[in-house]
Amino acid sequence: MTERCDLLITNVHAATMDPSMPGAYGAIEDAAVAVTGNKIVWIGPRRELPDTAADQIIDGEGQWLTPGLIDCHTHLVYGGHRAGEFARRLGGESYEEVARAGGGIISTVRATRAASAEDLYKKAEPRLKALMREGVTTVEVKSGYGLDLDTELKQLRVARRLAQHLPVNILTTCLAAHALPPEYDGRADEYIDLVCKQILPAVAREQLADAVDMFCENIAFSVEQCQKVIEAAQKLDLPVKVHAEQLARTGATQMAARAGALSVEHIEYITAEDVAAMAESGTAAVLLPGAFYTLKETRVPPVDKLRAAGVPIALSTDLNPGSCPLASLRLMMNMGCNLFGLTPAEALAGVTRAAARALGVCCSRGVLRAGLRADMVLWPMETPDQLAYELGALNPAQVFWGGFGRG
Ligand code: NIG
Ligand code: FE
Repeated sequence: MTERCDLLITNVHAATMDPSMPGAYGAIEDAAVAVTGNKIVWIGPRRELPDTAADQIIDGEGQWLTPGLIDCHTHLVYGGHRAGEFARRLGGESYEEVARAGGGIISTVRATRAASAEDLYKKAEPRLKALMREGVTTVEVKSGYGLDLDTELKQLRVARRLAQHLPVNILTTCLAAHALPPEYDGRADEYIDLVCKQILPAVAREQLADAVDMFCENIAFSVEQCQKVIEAAQKLDLPVKVHAEQLARTGATQMAARAGALSVEHIEYITAEDVAAMAESGTAAVLLPGAFYTLKETRVPPVDKLRAAGVPIALSTDLNPGSCPLASLRLMMNMGCNLFGLTPAEALAGVTRAAARALGVCCSRGVLRAGLRADMVLWPMETPDQLAYELGALNPAQVFWGGFGRG
């Protein structure tokens, strides 16, 4: 009997990234992929393809197909820019010094509060489109430059609106516990109360966030304060993620693991015990080499330990106006290899399978497999090793957004 599908791609090699398939890329040479609606319905070696009729057939011309890329940690909705701060840091001031002097995150908070939703949308769109041009089909967007109820809601609504107008998938995260707003100076516990009792419940009521994040660091919030945010999130049935141990060891990773957090992010300063706790709780690591590079950090996250413990290692841009104004996930793949010692296959896993884990969406995307979303990218390359290696000239031949909006 002839099967029917909407789209059939043949004459491609598939880097499925499916860990149940052989090799680091789970590769299927000379593959075929059938798509119906927004899902992959069949994938395998072309010679095993059942008799199939398709509305559209694409000849992949021997190119490689990968899962759509996933940028699992961004702050891409914000007002203003911090080019002046960049210059100050080049002149020798540290990120922490700039932040303590009223610059840093708080200067972006001022600009974000002052901006209209329309303005925020117009500034965020080109950042998002830059990621999309590289084959990014799912993006996480955090709030955290509002630090008051109205502006946090404004940022998250803009993030949701971007997904209504563009074919990319957006998952939103409320990061109200990002920094202490100036009006709460000296009253951090009161601000945490506002986050837990007003901001998070309001965000949940409007279904504006898929997760809750917090900045647990000496220049931001303590483990005790973050623990309260975690409890508030859990009461609202929202999964948690934690910016942890970027600048110092604080115990944030242990706290996150105990809470069953989806991910801990940055984690340059984690220890062997922290890695063991992550492995135990199934918490993913999100490495952010662009922030490490921009801040000229020297402490590298313990990739060997994470790898040995089998912790999923995701890679992301951290796209933000301070520590990483670099809208390129491909650049992060290259940095993940050159700065953190990932293999090219680990870098691709970091922006597909592991990134889906870090967002809690690995049941719907992150690998090429029948039943999952047909978020896919066709690349004119001879081996998937080229993705982390070559920048600028190696770009997607075609991006499939859930099978649709092919372009
Ligand atoms: O992930 N860590 C906190 N937030 C961002 C930096 C934000 C900023 O500097 O504006 C980060 O690196
Ligand atoms: Fe961040």
